[in-house]
Amino acid sequence: MKTMRLNIKGEGAFAYDIRIGYDILEGIGQGVAEFGTGRRYVAITDTNVAPLYGEAMLKKLKKAGLNCDMIEFPAGEASKNINTALSVVQQLLKLGIDRKSAIIAFGGGVVGDLAGFVASLYMRSIPYLQIPTTLVAQVDSSIGGKTAIDLEEGKNLMGTFYQPRAVFIDPAFLETLPPEEFGNGLAEIVKYGIIDSEDFFELLEDKMADIRKCNRKVLVRVIEMSCGIKKRLVEIDEKDQGPRHFLNYGHTIGHALEAASGYGLSHGKGVSLGMMAAARLSEKICGLSAGYRKRVDILIEKAGLPTAIPRGINTDLIISKLTADKKKSGSIINFVLIKKIGEPFITGDVKETIVRETIEEMKNDRRTA
Ligand SMILES: NC(=O)c1ccc[n+]([C@@H]2O[C@H](COP(=O)([O-])OP(=O)(O)OC[C@H]3O[C@@H](n4cnc5c(N)ncnc54)[C@H](O)[C@@H]3O)[C@@H](O)[C@H]2O)c1
Repeated sequence: MKTMRLNIKGEGAFAYDIRIGYDILEGIGQGVAEFGTGRRYVAITDTNVAPLYGEAMLKKLKKAGLNCDMIEFPAGEASKNINTALSVVQQLLKLGIDRKSAIIAFGGGVVGDLAGFVASLYMRSIPYLQIPTTLVAQVDSSIGGKTAIDLEEGKNLMGTFYQPRAVFIDPAFLETLPPEEFGNGLAEIVKYGIIDSEDFFELLEDKMADIRKCNRKVLVRVIEMSCGIKKRLVEIDEKDQGPRHFLNYGHTIGHALEAASGYGLSHGKGVSLGMMAAARLSEKICGLSAGYRKRVDILIEKAGLPTAIPRGINTDLIISKLTADKKKSGSIINFVLIKKIGEPFITGDVKETIVRETIEEMKNDRRTA
């Protein structure tokens, strides 16, 4: 097991452990007992995770002398809303959960975001722990304290910054994850490679086949490195005012593609195409070398993620989704681009004509033929 400590400095200074390893689940009872203030615990999970791991988890917690109940809600993004949050709160009240209790967010990013949101508000906040079970949650959403629910007007529009007391990451959970969901996490890992360093990028180039086969040694190392990158960005910019934006690399066009496809395109696929588009924009605008740009394309292909924008997604619609975001934020569209691998920067100076041209190029890429 590897432990890293996330340190938030300044006003409201706070620190917590992120524990990663294939032995986490075995010792989860002791781990939770160490961090919870909990007289009582409630694991919040979804209807896919509960039948797979719910009983085993409750058994392990009970064995460590912990009193834990479980609340589940229907799996999927459609549940990440105010109705589910209210229903969870009502169930917590029924169970008699008070401020001496703690919540365990046990599932993917949807569970983590919603359980964290509830924990930050229930009785003016109670502690929570994260036990992430998807690759997205293990390398991204369980770390950093962003909680949220979706509104009809859009995703993640209501939420809080509320850090967990600890994060327990056991990659063994990933063995039951559907390939599409694994791909969503892989896209975020590729993103870390692009924004962080040539060393990590090279490791991903060398080991992508092993990662996809869930080779334990390689997978745990890549998860540790990804968590380390996220941790460092959260430490310097907890409230997402500056460098934490680098985590949005590939997400500007990625989100527009997802929306323009009517969410037929998964998040991971949207982000992969968004990362390729951002590399092309970087080549045109800030002199990213063609060699680096091609390496981004090849890594995404090696990850089994799409490399061409489906021709059926209308370019005008993609552009209108991009500008709808711009209208919402009342400002220019900010893109994260790269000068080279490991050198991201933020710019609002990207002309619509270049974005349009790049989208068209990516529809006509030979890889689609
Ligand atoms: N808070 C943040 O910083 C942050 C960062 C990235 C993403 N997010 C949010 O995370 C969400 C996406 O997270 P996600 O990709 O984990 O989606 P998810 O939580 O919907 O999980 C994906 C699917 O996998 C199932 N599942 C979970 N663990 C499993 C396992 N071990 N075996 C089999 N099936 C399993 C789930 O039931 C679900 O059907 C989005 O709502 C997004 O906004 C938040």
